[in-house]
Amino acid sequence: MNAYYGNSHVPFDLDLEVAENEVVAPLGHNGAGRTTTLRSVTGTAPRREGTTAYQGTSIENRSVDRISNTGI
Ligand SMILES: Nc1ncnc2c1ncn2[C@@H]1O[C@H](COP(=O)(O)OP(=O)(O)O)[C@@H](O)[C@H]1O
Ligand SMILES: [Mg+2]
Repeated sequence: MNAYYGNSHVPFDLDLEVAENEVVAPLGHNGAGRTTTLRSVTGTAPRREGTTAYQGTSIENRSVDRISNTGI
């Protein structure tokens, strides 16, 4: 996954898989891209590229409310 705010490119080539019942805690300094990563997953980042799947089904082209309805 890649996301952009204008010329700012964060996160850069993120590849993340979270298993059922697994907890992942992203660490980093302010501006590292934690919030933008979650916004990209939920479809609320301004511009993003890449694929996002939930339980094996692609969700990146769904509306925000439909992504929310998956339970994310
Ligand atoms: N509203 C915004 N407008 C412009 N750039 C932003 C905005 N929010 C975040 N960014 C850019 O995205 C980067 C990642 O920010 P963010 O995801 O909020 O990081 P974190 O949550 O790890 O502190 C920032 O360093 C900044 O360059
Ligand atoms: Mg944040």
